[in-house]
Amino acid sequence: MKNYQKLILAGGSGFLGQVLTAHFKDAAREIIVLTRGPERQLGQVRYLPWDGRTPGPWVAALEGADAVINLAGRSVDCRYNARNRAEILLSRVNATAVLGEAIRGLDVPPRVWLNLASATYYRHAEDRAQDEATGQAGTGFSVEVCQAWEKAFWQADAPPGVRRVLLRTALVLGTEGGAYPVLAGLVRWGLGGTQGPGSQMVSWVHADDFARMVAFCVEHGEVAGTYNCAAPAPLSNTAMMRTLRYYLRRPVGLPSPRWMLELGAFLLRTEPELVLKSRWVAPTRMLQAGFEFKYPNFNGAVADLSR
Ligand SMILES: NC(=O)c1ccc[n+]([C@@H]2O[C@H](COP(=O)([O-])OP(=O)(O)OC[C@H]3O[C@@H](n4cnc5c(N)ncnc54)[C@H](OP(=O)(O)O)[C@@H]3O)[C@@H](O)[C@H]2O)c1
Repeated sequence: MKNYQKLILAGGSGFLGQVLTAHFKDAAREIIVLTRGPERQLGQVRYLPWDGRTPGPWVAALEGADAVINLAGRSVDCRYNARNRAEILLSRVNATAVLGEAIRGLDVPPRVWLNLASATYYRHAEDRAQDEATGQAGTGFSVEVCQAWEKAFWQADAPPGVRRVLLRTALVLGTEGGAYPVLAGLVRWGLGGTQGPGSQMVSWVHADDFARMVAFCVEHGEVAGTYNCAAPAPLSNTAMMRTLRYYLRRPVGLPSPRWMLELGAFLLRTEPELVLKSRWVAPTRMLQAGFEFKYPNFNGAVADLSR
């Protein structure tokens, strides 16, 4: 990997921020995490306070950075009541907009500004894969959030020399956070059967490949615009749960029909859409750019994660 002087991870205290910090820590002299938490220094990682909405002393820290990577956003794993909806939307739009404003005012802007986005942008697809050129946007609250988030990114008036990359990211599977520990827990408790109809597709990416893809985008000067960040082999929910049961050595698992998911989601204060929407996304542009997946297939990914 290339060496970096300074990388900025906005909203980098969460799951994906930790994945990127671990990936870049040997290659970067300094990693600055913008957080609403307290200021602190852990090795070469400096946690710098911001509010995700307004410029402040943190802006100066962006001077001369190799890359600004924006991960900020309130978790979508909650009930979509009015308050949470507003927070889900505004945390993403405001953080993106204020980063654009900050970058515009710098003497030495970063060469790359990479923003996270979500593969939820695409419609419920059971017929064909959605890629950057031929995919169709979906409808509903989550999609509206994705659209507003992307619009804030492209509308930001960053200097022309700053290369912009948007990563529409699928479910990232890692051991330290996100969906994998939840799914593995269900399987271990004997609840790892098919969820809902089971025919809904699941697009996913191994956390190592997520981090490698971010590094690829930062390093390759020709990478610009919107990319899907998903492994090239999505699978049905039935196949996903079967594979998890196999690698976690639980031959049987109770299925969860739709009504049970709806009740369970209500009790766990989350939304059944996170499981029931058919997400079928192809990483066409990344493959064309020459990115090679370390974990292209779900079997290989789970064999690694379950070790
Ligand atoms: N994990 C996945 O599988 C996945 C897939 C596709 C897209 N994404 C997107 O990628 C981004 C990062 O995901 P993640 O899994 O790392 O999420 P995460 O663990 O929830 O971390 C997100 C970070 O955003 C910051 N944040 C939360 N609310 C905020 C607010 N109101 N204003 C400003 N910052 C706020 C938090 O940092 P502080 O509390 O330190 O400020 C938090 O650590 C999210 O936008 C998510 O939607 C994730």
